[in-house]
Amino acid sequence: MDSDGSVWPASTTRREDGGLEVGGCEIAALAAEFGTPLYVVDEADFRARAVAFRTAFGEAFARYDATVDVFYAAKAFLCSRVASWMKKEGLGIDVASAGELELALRGGMPPARITLHGNNKSDAEIARALEVGVGRIVVDSLEEIGLLWEEAERQGVVAPVLIRVTTGVHAGGHEYIATAHEDQKFGLSLASGAAAEALSLCHESPFLKLLGIHTHIGSQIQSLDAFRESAERMLRLRSDFAEASGFEVPEVDLGGGYAIAYTSSQEALPIEDAATAIAGTVAEALAASGGSWPRVSIEPGRAIAGPAGITVYTVGVTKTVRLEDGGERRYIAIDGGMSDNMRPITYGAEYTATLASRESDAEPVRSRVVGKHCESGDILVHEVELPGDVAHGDLLAIPATGAYGRVMANNYNALPRPAVVAVKKGKTQLLIRRDTIEDQLAWDVAP
Ligand code: LLP
Repeated sequence: MDSDGSVWPASTTRREDGGLEVGGCEIAALAAEFGTPLYVVDEADFRARAVAFRTAFGEAFARYDATVDVFYAAKAFLCSRVASWMKKEGLGIDVASAGELELALRGGMPPARITLHGNNKSDAEIARALEVGVGRIVVDSLEEIGLLWEEAERQGVVAPVLIRVTTGVHAGGHEYIATAHEDQKFGLSLASGAAAEALSLCHESPFLKLLGIHTHIGSQIQSLDAFRESAERMLRLRSDFAEASGFEVPEVDLGGGYAIAYTSSQEALPIEDAATAIAGTVAEALAASGGSWPRVSIEPGRAIAGPAGITVYTVGVTKTVRLEDGGERRYIAIDGGMSDNMRPITYGAEYTATLASRESDAEPVRSRVVGKHCESGDILVHEVELPGDVAHGDLLAIPATGAYGRVMANNYNALPRPAVVAVKKGKTQLLIRRDTIEDQLAWDVAP
Protein backbone atom coordinates (compact mmCIF):
# COMPACT_ATOMS: atom_id res chain seq x y z
CA MET A 1 0.00 0.00 0.00
CA ASP A 2 1.03 3.52 0.74
CA SER A 3 3.39 5.02 -1.83
CA ASP A 4 2.82 2.28 -4.40
CA GLY A 5 -0.90 1.63 -4.22
CA SER A 6 -1.06 0.56 -7.86
CA VAL A 7 0.71 -2.75 -7.31
CA TRP A 8 -1.74 -4.03 -4.70
CA PRO A 9 -4.94 -6.05 -5.35
CA ALA A 10 -7.86 -3.77 -6.17
CA SER A 11 -9.61 -4.19 -2.82
CA THR A 12 -6.55 -3.44 -0.66
CA THR A 13 -7.07 -0.73 1.95
CA ARG A 14 -5.59 0.47 5.23
CA ARG A 15 -8.00 0.03 8.10
CA GLU A 16 -8.48 2.73 10.68
CA ASP A 17 -6.46 0.69 13.14
CA GLY A 18 -3.58 0.74 10.64
CA GLY A 19 -3.74 -2.89 9.54
CA LEU A 20 -3.92 -3.86 5.90
CA GLU A 21 -7.11 -5.37 4.52
CA VAL A 22 -7.74 -7.26 1.26
CA GLY A 23 -11.13 -8.45 0.02
CA GLY A 24 -12.69 -7.10 3.22
CA CYS A 25 -10.47 -9.38 5.33
CA GLU A 26 -7.92 -8.08 7.80
CA ILE A 27 -4.47 -9.45 6.97
CA ALA A 28 -3.68 -10.03 10.65
CA ALA A 29 -6.83 -12.11 11.04
CA LEU A 30 -5.95 -14.16 7.96
CA ALA A 31 -2.46 -14.76 9.30
CA ALA A 32 -3.90 -15.85 12.65
CA GLU A 33 -6.35 -18.25 11.02
CA PHE A 34 -4.24 -19.72 8.21
CA GLY A 35 -0.68 -19.13 9.42
CA THR A 36 2.19 -17.56 7.51
CA PRO A 37 3.67 -17.47 4.96
CA LEU A 38 0.30 -17.17 3.28
CA TYR A 39 -0.72 -16.36 -0.26
CA VAL A 40 -3.86 -14.24 -0.35
CA VAL A 41 -5.87 -13.93 -3.57
CA ASP A 42 -8.38 -11.15 -4.15
CA GLU A 43 -11.02 -13.21 -5.95
CA ALA A 44 -12.95 -10.27 -7.36
CA ASP A 45 -9.76 -8.70 -8.73
CA PHE A 46 -8.60 -12.00 -10.25
CA ARG A 47 -11.92 -12.52 -11.99
CA ALA A 48 -12.21 -8.88 -13.05
CA ARG A 49 -8.81 -9.12 -14.73
CA ALA A 50 -9.95 -12.19 -16.65
CA VAL A 51 -13.09 -10.36 -17.73
CA ALA A 52 -11.03 -7.29 -18.66
CA PHE A 53 -9.09 -9.37 -21.19
CA ARG A 54 -12.27 -10.72 -22.70
CA THR A 55 -13.81 -7.26 -22.87
CA ALA A 56 -10.78 -5.36 -24.19
CA PHE A 57 -9.91 -7.93 -26.83
CA GLY A 58 -13.56 -8.60 -27.62
CA GLU A 59 -14.16 -4.90 -28.30
CA ALA A 60 -10.97 -4.43 -30.31
CA PHE A 61 -11.79 -7.38 -32.57
CA ALA A 62 -15.49 -6.50 -32.78
CA ARG A 63 -14.43 -3.38 -34.73
CA TYR A 64 -13.62 -5.83 -37.53
CA ASP A 65 -16.64 -8.09 -36.84
CA ALA A 66 -14.24 -10.68 -35.46
CA THR A 67 -14.13 -12.53 -32.16
CA VAL A 68 -11.36 -13.60 -29.76
CA ASP A 69 -11.06 -16.53 -27.39
CA VAL A 70 -9.19 -15.96 -24.13
CA PHE A 71 -7.44 -18.93 -22.53
CA TYR A 72 -6.10 -18.41 -19.02
CA ALA A 73 -2.51 -19.70 -18.83
CA ALA A 74 -2.83 -22.09 -15.89
CA LYS A 75 0.91 -22.19 -15.28
CA ALA A 76 0.67 -18.75 -13.64
CA PHE A 77 -1.49 -20.18 -10.85
CA LEU A 78 -3.93 -23.05 -10.86
CA CYS A 79 -6.22 -24.87 -8.50
CA SER A 80 -9.62 -26.32 -9.31
CA ARG A 81 -11.40 -23.28 -7.89
CA VAL A 82 -9.53 -20.97 -10.24
CA ALA A 83 -10.51 -23.23 -13.15
CA SER A 84 -14.14 -22.89 -12.07
CA TRP A 85 -13.81 -19.08 -11.93
CA MET A 86 -12.37 -19.05 -15.46
CA LYS A 87 -15.17 -21.27 -16.69
CA LYS A 88 -17.79 -18.94 -15.20
CA GLU A 89 -16.09 -15.85 -16.66
CA GLY A 90 -16.16 -17.37 -20.15
CA LEU A 91 -12.47 -18.13 -20.56
CA GLY A 92 -10.79 -21.36 -21.58
CA ILE A 93 -7.62 -22.72 -19.97
CA ASP A 94 -4.22 -23.60 -21.31
CA VAL A 95 -2.51 -26.42 -19.45
CA ALA A 96 1.03 -27.71 -19.76
CA SER A 97 0.93 -31.09 -18.00
CA ALA A 98 -1.34 -33.93 -16.95
CA GLY A 99 -1.53 -32.40 -13.47
CA GLU A 100 -2.75 -29.05 -14.73
CA LEU A 101 -5.18 -30.87 -17.02
CA GLU A 102 -6.72 -32.79 -14.11
CA LEU A 103 -7.06 -29.62 -12.00
CA ALA A 104 -8.79 -27.83 -14.87
CA LEU A 105 -11.18 -30.77 -15.32
CA ARG A 106 -11.87 -30.95 -11.59
CA GLY A 107 -12.81 -27.27 -11.72
CA GLY A 108 -15.43 -28.16 -14.32
CA MET A 109 -13.69 -26.61 -17.31
CA PRO A 110 -15.23 -28.24 -20.40
CA PRO A 111 -12.51 -30.24 -22.22
CA ALA A 112 -13.33 -28.44 -25.45
CA ARG A 113 -12.13 -25.21 -23.81
CA ILE A 114 -8.79 -26.72 -22.75
CA THR A 115 -5.57 -26.40 -24.74
CA LEU A 116 -2.69 -28.77 -23.98
CA HIS A 117 0.85 -27.41 -24.28
CA GLY A 118 4.27 -28.86 -23.58
CA ASN A 119 7.58 -29.19 -25.38
CA ASN A 120 7.93 -32.79 -24.20
CA LYS A 121 4.49 -34.23 -23.56
CA SER A 122 4.59 -37.76 -22.24
CA ASP A 123 2.75 -40.60 -23.96
CA ALA A 124 0.41 -40.68 -20.97
CA GLU A 125 -0.31 -36.95 -21.26
CA ILE A 126 -1.09 -37.25 -24.97
CA ALA A 127 -3.30 -40.28 -24.34
CA ARG A 128 -5.20 -38.58 -21.50
CA ALA A 129 -5.74 -35.40 -23.51
CA LEU A 130 -7.23 -37.41 -26.38
CA GLU A 131 -9.35 -39.54 -24.04
CA VAL A 132 -10.97 -36.55 -22.37
CA GLY A 133 -11.26 -34.73 -25.69
CA VAL A 134 -9.37 -31.49 -25.14
CA GLY A 135 -10.17 -28.82 -27.70
CA ARG A 136 -6.60 -28.22 -28.84
CA ILE A 137 -3.21 -29.85 -28.59
CA VAL A 138 -0.31 -27.57 -29.43
CA VAL A 139 2.30 -29.59 -31.31
CA ASP A 140 5.78 -28.48 -30.32
CA SER A 141 8.09 -30.59 -32.49
CA LEU A 142 8.17 -32.66 -35.67
CA GLU A 143 8.76 -35.78 -33.58
CA GLU A 144 5.62 -35.11 -31.58
CA ILE A 145 3.49 -35.19 -34.73
CA GLY A 146 4.30 -38.89 -35.10
CA LEU A 147 3.59 -39.62 -31.43
CA LEU A 148 0.27 -37.81 -31.54
CA TRP A 149 -0.73 -39.41 -34.84
CA GLU A 150 0.00 -42.91 -33.46
CA GLU A 151 -1.98 -42.38 -30.28
CA ALA A 152 -4.93 -40.83 -32.13
CA GLU A 153 -4.94 -43.77 -34.52
CA ARG A 154 -4.76 -46.20 -31.59
CA GLN A 155 -7.77 -44.54 -29.93
CA GLY A 156 -9.59 -44.17 -33.25
CA VAL A 157 -9.97 -40.40 -32.83
CA VAL A 158 -8.86 -37.31 -34.69
CA ALA A 159 -6.58 -35.01 -32.66
CA PRO A 160 -7.25 -31.26 -32.95
CA VAL A 161 -3.87 -29.54 -33.36
CA LEU A 162 -2.19 -26.19 -33.47
CA ILE A 163 1.46 -25.86 -34.52
CA ARG A 164 3.70 -23.98 -32.08
CA VAL A 165 5.74 -21.56 -34.12
CA THR A 166 8.92 -19.79 -33.08
CA THR A 167 8.67 -16.58 -35.03
CA GLY A 168 12.13 -15.23 -34.26
CA VAL A 169 10.71 -12.26 -32.34
CA HIS A 170 12.88 -11.86 -29.27
CA ALA A 171 10.90 -10.34 -26.44
CA GLY A 172 10.34 -10.75 -22.73
CA GLY A 173 11.76 -9.65 -19.44
CA HIS A 174 14.53 -12.16 -18.80
CA GLU A 175 16.31 -14.52 -21.18
CA TYR A 176 14.66 -17.48 -19.46
CA ILE A 177 11.16 -16.18 -20.11
CA ALA A 178 11.61 -15.22 -23.78
CA THR A 179 10.33 -18.02 -25.97
CA ALA A 180 10.17 -17.22 -29.66
CA HIS A 181 13.79 -16.72 -30.63
CA GLU A 182 15.49 -19.57 -32.49
CA ASP A 183 18.05 -20.82 -29.99
CA GLN A 184 15.76 -22.37 -27.35
CA LYS A 185 13.76 -25.51 -26.79
CA PHE A 186 10.22 -24.47 -27.74
CA GLY A 187 8.42 -24.79 -31.00
CA LEU A 188 8.96 -25.12 -34.72
CA SER A 189 11.05 -22.53 -36.45
CA LEU A 190 9.49 -20.20 -38.97
CA ALA A 191 12.83 -19.26 -40.49
CA SER A 192 14.12 -22.80 -41.03
CA GLY A 193 10.90 -24.02 -42.60
CA ALA A 194 10.19 -26.50 -39.78
CA ALA A 195 6.87 -24.77 -39.06
CA ALA A 196 5.77 -25.09 -42.68
CA GLU A 197 6.83 -28.74 -42.73
CA ALA A 198 4.80 -29.41 -39.58
CA LEU A 199 1.77 -27.70 -41.10
CA SER A 200 1.95 -29.93 -44.17
CA LEU A 201 2.42 -33.11 -42.14
CA CYS A 202 -0.55 -32.35 -39.87
CA HIS A 203 -2.71 -31.26 -42.78
CA GLU A 204 -2.10 -34.56 -44.56
CA SER A 205 -2.68 -36.83 -41.58
CA PRO A 206 -6.10 -38.52 -41.39
CA PHE A 207 -5.77 -38.65 -37.59
CA LEU A 208 -4.90 -35.01 -37.05
CA LYS A 209 -7.19 -32.08 -37.62
CA LEU A 210 -5.11 -29.00 -38.35
CA LEU A 211 -6.84 -26.12 -36.58
CA GLY A 212 -4.14 -23.52 -36.74
CA ILE A 213 -0.91 -21.98 -35.54
CA HIS A 214 0.26 -20.83 -32.13
CA THR A 215 3.04 -18.64 -30.84
CA HIS A 216 4.09 -17.25 -27.47
CA ILE A 217 6.90 -14.74 -27.70
CA GLY A 218 7.74 -14.55 -24.01
CA SER A 219 6.66 -13.15 -20.71
CA GLN A 220 6.55 -9.78 -18.97
CA ILE A 221 6.55 -8.03 -22.37
CA GLN A 222 6.28 -4.25 -22.33
CA SER A 223 6.56 -3.66 -26.05
CA LEU A 224 3.52 -3.43 -28.28
CA ASP A 225 5.88 -3.66 -31.25
CA ALA A 226 6.88 -7.19 -30.22
CA PHE A 227 3.22 -8.27 -30.22
CA ARG A 228 2.64 -6.54 -33.57
CA GLU A 229 5.70 -8.12 -35.16
CA SER A 230 4.74 -11.54 -33.92
CA ALA A 231 1.13 -11.25 -35.15
CA GLU A 232 2.32 -10.04 -38.52
CA ARG A 233 4.74 -12.97 -38.94
CA MET A 234 2.04 -15.44 -37.92
CA LEU A 235 -0.47 -14.03 -40.39
CA ARG A 236 2.17 -14.16 -43.11
CA LEU A 237 2.83 -17.83 -42.31
CA ARG A 238 -0.90 -18.49 -42.50
CA SER A 239 -1.26 -16.87 -45.91
CA ASP A 240 1.93 -18.50 -47.25
CA PHE A 241 0.63 -21.89 -46.19
CA ALA A 242 -2.79 -21.15 -47.68
CA GLU A 243 -1.13 -20.30 -50.96
CA ALA A 244 0.98 -23.45 -50.94
CA SER A 245 -1.67 -25.89 -49.76
CA GLY A 246 -5.00 -24.31 -50.62
CA PHE A 247 -5.93 -24.57 -46.91
CA GLU A 248 -6.29 -21.45 -44.79
CA VAL A 249 -5.92 -22.54 -41.15
CA PRO A 250 -8.93 -21.34 -39.17
CA GLU A 251 -7.16 -20.42 -35.90
CA VAL A 252 -4.25 -18.24 -34.78
CA ASP A 253 -3.25 -18.25 -31.09
CA LEU A 254 -0.92 -15.40 -30.15
CA GLY A 255 -0.03 -16.58 -26.63
CA GLY A 256 0.36 -14.51 -23.47
CA GLY A 257 3.12 -12.38 -21.97
CA TYR A 258 1.39 -9.12 -20.98
CA ALA A 259 3.59 -7.30 -18.48
CA ILE A 260 2.48 -6.31 -14.99
CA ALA A 261 3.99 -3.91 -12.43
CA TYR A 262 5.77 -5.49 -9.48
CA THR A 263 6.91 -2.20 -7.96
CA SER A 264 5.81 1.40 -8.36
CA SER A 265 8.72 2.06 -10.72
CA GLN A 266 7.36 -0.46 -13.23
CA GLU A 267 4.37 -0.17 -15.52
CA ALA A 268 1.83 -2.73 -16.65
CA LEU A 269 1.16 -3.01 -20.37
CA PRO A 270 -2.33 -1.52 -20.84
CA ILE A 271 -4.54 -4.35 -22.07
CA GLU A 272 -6.68 -2.08 -24.26
CA ASP A 273 -3.56 -0.86 -26.09
CA ALA A 274 -2.38 -4.42 -26.64
CA ALA A 275 -5.82 -5.45 -27.90
CA THR A 276 -6.04 -2.52 -30.31
CA ALA A 277 -2.50 -3.10 -31.58
CA ILE A 278 -3.00 -6.81 -32.14
CA ALA A 279 -6.43 -6.51 -33.78
CA GLY A 280 -5.10 -3.70 -36.01
CA THR A 281 -2.08 -5.77 -37.04
CA VAL A 282 -4.23 -8.75 -37.96
CA ALA A 283 -6.56 -6.49 -39.96
CA GLU A 284 -3.64 -4.93 -41.87
CA ALA A 285 -2.09 -8.31 -42.60
CA LEU A 286 -5.41 -9.61 -43.93
CA ALA A 287 -5.91 -6.50 -46.04
CA ALA A 288 -2.51 -7.14 -47.60
CA SER A 289 -2.94 -10.89 -48.14
CA GLY A 290 -6.66 -10.98 -48.90
CA GLY A 291 -7.29 -13.75 -46.37
CA SER A 292 -10.38 -14.26 -44.22
CA TRP A 293 -10.45 -13.51 -40.48
CA PRO A 294 -9.06 -16.34 -38.39
CA ARG A 295 -10.39 -17.24 -34.98
CA VAL A 296 -7.77 -15.47 -32.85
CA SER A 297 -6.99 -16.49 -29.30
CA ILE A 298 -4.67 -15.25 -26.54
CA GLU A 299 -3.28 -16.85 -23.38
CA PRO A 300 -2.64 -14.34 -20.57
CA GLY A 301 -1.50 -15.79 -17.25
CA ARG A 302 0.52 -13.35 -15.17
CA ALA A 303 -1.64 -10.32 -15.98
CA ILE A 304 -4.70 -12.11 -14.55
CA ALA A 305 -3.23 -13.87 -11.52
CA GLY A 306 -0.21 -11.75 -10.61
CA PRO A 307 -1.61 -8.44 -9.36
CA ALA A 308 -4.53 -10.17 -7.60
CA GLY A 309 -2.26 -12.00 -5.15
CA ILE A 310 0.01 -11.06 -2.27
CA THR A 311 2.17 -13.02 0.16
CA VAL A 312 1.99 -12.39 3.89
CA TYR A 313 4.97 -13.20 6.12
CA THR A 314 5.77 -12.96 9.81
CA VAL A 315 8.92 -11.09 10.73
CA GLY A 316 11.46 -13.05 12.75
CA VAL A 317 14.88 -11.63 13.49
CA THR A 318 16.31 -8.35 12.26
CA LYS A 319 19.80 -6.91 12.19
CA THR A 320 21.55 -3.83 10.88
CA VAL A 321 24.81 -4.02 8.97
CA ARG A 322 27.30 -1.29 8.08
CA LEU A 323 27.92 -0.83 4.39
CA GLU A 324 31.18 0.11 2.72
CA ASP A 325 29.72 3.45 1.66
CA GLY A 326 29.28 4.32 5.34
CA GLY A 327 25.54 3.74 5.28
CA GLU A 328 23.50 1.03 6.95
CA ARG A 329 21.18 -1.67 5.81
CA ARG A 330 18.57 -3.37 7.93
CA TYR A 331 18.04 -7.08 7.30
CA ILE A 332 14.52 -8.24 8.04
CA ALA A 333 14.16 -12.02 8.02
CA ILE A 334 10.72 -13.47 7.33
CA ASP A 335 9.36 -16.99 7.74
CA GLY A 336 9.48 -17.95 4.04
CA GLY A 337 11.78 -16.98 1.19
CA MET A 338 13.10 -18.53 -2.00
CA SER A 339 10.94 -21.62 -1.49
CA ASP A 340 7.67 -19.67 -1.79
CA ASN A 341 8.94 -17.08 -4.27
CA MET A 342 11.56 -18.35 -6.68
CA ARG A 343 11.37 -15.30 -8.93
CA PRO A 344 13.97 -13.02 -7.31
CA ILE A 345 16.67 -15.68 -7.27
CA THR A 346 15.70 -17.10 -10.66
CA TYR A 347 15.22 -13.94 -12.71
CA GLY A 348 16.49 -11.15 -10.47
CA ALA A 349 12.84 -10.11 -10.17
CA GLU A 350 12.11 -7.01 -8.10
CA TYR A 351 9.43 -6.76 -5.45
CA THR A 352 8.38 -4.33 -2.77
CA ALA A 353 7.01 -4.91 0.74
CA THR A 354 4.94 -3.12 3.33
CA LEU A 355 4.19 -3.45 7.01
CA ALA A 356 0.78 -5.12 7.00
CA SER A 357 -0.20 -5.67 10.64
CA ARG A 358 -0.04 -2.04 11.73
CA GLU A 359 1.00 1.44 10.69
CA SER A 360 4.14 3.04 12.01
CA ASP A 361 5.42 6.59 12.33
CA ALA A 362 8.98 5.38 12.80
CA GLU A 363 11.52 6.83 10.41
CA PRO A 364 11.81 4.60 7.30
CA VAL A 365 15.17 2.87 6.93
CA ARG A 366 16.90 1.16 4.05
CA SER A 367 15.81 -2.46 4.45
CA ARG A 368 16.33 -5.81 2.78
CA VAL A 369 13.75 -8.55 3.17
CA VAL A 370 15.38 -11.97 3.36
CA GLY A 371 14.09 -15.50 3.84
CA LYS A 372 14.99 -18.29 6.24
CA HIS A 373 16.81 -20.59 3.82
CA CYS A 374 20.41 -21.67 4.14
CA GLU A 375 21.49 -19.53 1.24
CA SER A 376 22.73 -15.93 1.19
CA GLY A 377 20.97 -15.25 -2.12
CA ASP A 378 17.65 -15.94 -0.39
CA ILE A 379 16.55 -12.32 -0.79
CA LEU A 380 12.95 -11.41 -1.58
CA VAL A 381 13.26 -7.62 -1.69
CA HIS A 382 16.72 -6.20 -2.26
CA GLU A 383 15.93 -2.70 -1.20
CA VAL A 384 12.83 -1.13 0.30
CA GLU A 385 12.20 1.65 2.79
CA LEU A 386 10.45 0.15 5.82
CA PRO A 387 9.73 1.75 9.21
CA GLY A 388 12.75 1.46 11.53
CA ASP A 389 10.67 -0.20 14.25
CA VAL A 390 9.61 -3.27 12.23
CA ALA A 391 10.19 -6.10 14.67
CA HIS A 392 9.67 -9.73 15.59
CA GLY A 393 6.01 -10.71 15.14
CA ASP A 394 5.08 -7.95 12.70
CA LEU A 395 3.49 -8.99 9.42
CA LEU A 396 4.96 -7.96 6.08
CA ALA A 397 3.10 -8.23 2.80
CA ILE A 398 4.64 -8.46 -0.66
CA PRO A 399 2.33 -7.57 -3.56
CA ALA A 400 2.04 -9.01 -7.09
CA THR A 401 2.93 -12.55 -6.09
CA GLY A 402 -0.23 -14.16 -7.48
CA ALA A 403 1.49 -15.50 -10.61
CA TYR A 404 4.42 -17.91 -10.64
CA GLY A 405 4.53 -17.87 -6.84
CA ARG A 406 2.72 -20.86 -5.32
CA VAL A 407 3.03 -22.84 -8.55
CA MET A 408 6.82 -22.53 -8.46
CA ALA A 409 7.09 -23.07 -4.71
CA ASN A 410 9.21 -25.92 -3.43
CA ASN A 411 10.15 -27.61 -0.19
CA TYR A 412 13.76 -26.46 0.05
CA ASN A 413 15.06 -27.03 3.58
CA ALA A 414 11.92 -29.14 4.06
CA LEU A 415 9.81 -26.03 4.49
CA PRO A 416 6.09 -26.59 4.00
CA ARG A 417 4.67 -24.80 0.95
CA PRO A 418 2.23 -22.08 2.09
CA ALA A 419 -1.54 -22.19 1.88
CA VAL A 420 -3.47 -20.09 -0.62
CA VAL A 421 -6.65 -18.40 0.55
CA ALA A 422 -9.12 -16.44 -1.56
CA VAL A 423 -10.81 -13.43 -0.02
CA LYS A 424 -13.99 -11.69 -1.12
CA LYS A 425 -16.38 -9.34 0.66
CA GLY A 426 -15.05 -10.29 4.07
CA LYS A 427 -15.25 -14.05 3.40
CA THR A 428 -12.41 -16.51 3.01
CA GLN A 429 -12.11 -19.66 0.97
CA LEU A 430 -9.12 -21.94 1.29
CA LEU A 431 -7.87 -22.76 -2.23
CA ILE A 432 -4.79 -24.83 -1.36
CA ARG A 433 -3.95 -26.02 2.13
CA ARG A 434 -0.49 -25.62 3.62
CA ASP A 435 1.90 -28.57 3.47
CA THR A 436 2.62 -30.01 6.87
CA ILE A 437 5.58 -31.74 8.42
CA GLU A 438 3.34 -34.83 8.39
CA ASP A 439 3.03 -34.49 4.60
CA GLN A 440 6.79 -34.44 4.34
CA LEU A 441 7.12 -37.50 6.53
CA ALA A 442 4.49 -39.20 4.41
CA TRP A 443 6.42 -38.48 1.18
CA ASP A 444 9.57 -39.78 2.78
CA VAL A 445 10.11 -43.53 2.62
CA ALA A 446 11.26 -44.47 6.09
CA PRO A 447 14.26 -46.79 6.47
N1 LLP B 1 1.18 -19.35 -23.18
C1 LLP B 1 2.31 -20.10 -23.21
C2 LLP B 1 2.48 -21.11 -24.25
C3 LLP B 1 3.29 -19.92 -22.24
O1 LLP B 1 4.39 -20.65 -22.28
C4 LLP B 1 3.09 -18.94 -21.23
C5 LLP B 1 4.09 -18.74 -20.20
C6 LLP B 1 1.91 -18.19 -21.23
C7 LLP B 1 0.98 -18.42 -22.24
C8 LLP B 1 1.58 -17.16 -20.19
O2 LLP B 1 2.48 -16.12 -20.13
P1 LLP B 1 2.17 -14.89 -19.15
O3 LLP B 1 0.96 -14.17 -19.70
O4 LLP B 1 1.92 -15.44 -17.81
O5 LLP B 1 3.41 -14.07 -19.20
N2 LLP B 1 8.03 -18.47 -14.53
C9 LLP B 1 8.22 -17.24 -15.30
C10 LLP B 1 7.29 -17.14 -16.44
C11 LLP B 1 7.38 -18.29 -17.40
C12 LLP B 1 6.25 -18.25 -18.35
C13 LLP B 1 6.17 -19.47 -19.15
N3 LLP B 1 5.15 -19.45 -20.13
C14 LLP B 1 8.09 -16.05 -14.35
O6 LLP B 1 7.91 -16.24 -13.16
O7 LLP B 1 8.21 -14.91 -14.79
